[in-house]
Amino acid sequence: MRAIVIEEFGGVEQLTLKEVDKPVLKPNRMLVEQYATSVNPIDVKRRKGSFGGKLPMIVGGDVAGVVTEVGDDVTDFQIGDRVMANGAKTYAEIVSVNPDRAVKLADTVAFEHAAALPLAGQTAYEAIVTRAKVESGDRVLVHGGSGGVGSIAVQIAKLKGAWVASTASGENQELLESLGADRPINYKEEKFEDSLSDLDVVFDTIGGDVQKNSFRVLKEKGRLVSIAEEPDKDLQIKQVDASYFSFSPKKESLEELNRWLTDSQLQPVISHVYSFTEEEVREAHKVSETGHAGGKLIITFK
Ligand SMILES: NC(=O)c1ccc[n+]([C@@H]2O[C@H](COP(=O)([O-])OP(=O)(O)OC[C@H]3O[C@@H](n4cnc5c(N)ncnc54)[C@H](OP(=O)(O)O)[C@@H]3O)[C@@H](O)[C@H]2O)c1
Repeated sequence: MRAIVIEEFGGVEQLTLKEVDKPVLKPNRMLVEQYATSVNPIDVKRRKGSFGGKLPMIVGGDVAGVVTEVGDDVTDFQIGDRVMANGAKTYAEIVSVNPDRAVKLADTVAFEHAAALPLAGQTAYEAIVTRAKVESGDRVLVHGGSGGVGSIAVQIAKLKGAWVASTASGENQELLESLGADRPINYKEEKFEDSLSDLDVVFDTIGGDVQKNSFRVLKEKGRLVSIAEEPDKDLQIKQVDASYFSFSPKKESLEELNRWLTDSQLQPVISHVYSFTEEEVREAHKVSETGHAGGKLIITFK
């Protein structure tokens, strides 16, 4: 099979298309033929060597495809099932998948949409639902609402019945409106900390001054959830419950995202679809590292 392999940490030129052995089928795993995957910012960090790891390396965390082989211990999936899953080494034509990290897709769901959701969608879900516990009537600010994570977070907060403000650059204001944001904010022209107050929840996808100033717009005992950096305890005011988390896959959130996707209650925002070539995957990484992809960067295999 073909895979994008990193032999040395570094720039996009380290992403090279190679012929490699397909994964060995273990009894408690299944093999999935990939139709689509996505680029997440963590793939870029891993390519640069930010987390170390053994080389050669294949990165990627999102799976969308068809089951082609099933281990003897797997009971919930069959050959031919269309699935979306959390995975590893997903810049490859065939991926070994843990059935506890996979859900079946309805025939109506496009693989390009499914590939946008596992890592980014579950991160948004954990922030808005599991940690911030957003409820109907809550006033919520989602920073970076045009991003892979933020665009799903805005939609989930709306599904929960919240009033939602969200920040993005000027060119993404219409996108924020289309996602249902009640108060789109162009962070290049308006300081959110001057315009908002008394919020129940802030979801911080940016960090730095954005996180620091977010404390000011929260109400007493409000909730701040960050995926960018650990909140500075010295800056915490108003008894805000502030926390950071690092993504970990959870089947129940993948199932809920799948239900919303099937019912068209959730629309993944696709910035660009690339094909599975060395040049196009390198291009996708270049766009991701600008920090302004404007939605998900999808790679298709077919
Ligand atoms: N802790 C974890 O487990 C975890 C999990 C997933 C992601 N992350 C991190 O979370 C961040 C977001 O991930 P992502 O996949 O959504 O990235 P992304 O798709 O690259 O989106 C980043 C978004 O941030 C917006 N942005 C940039 N500067 C901003 C500012 N000052 N104020 C408001 N918005 C701003 C950009 O919008 P404009 O183009 O409109 O400026 C862009 O849409 C990344 O740093 C990623 O590494 C962490």
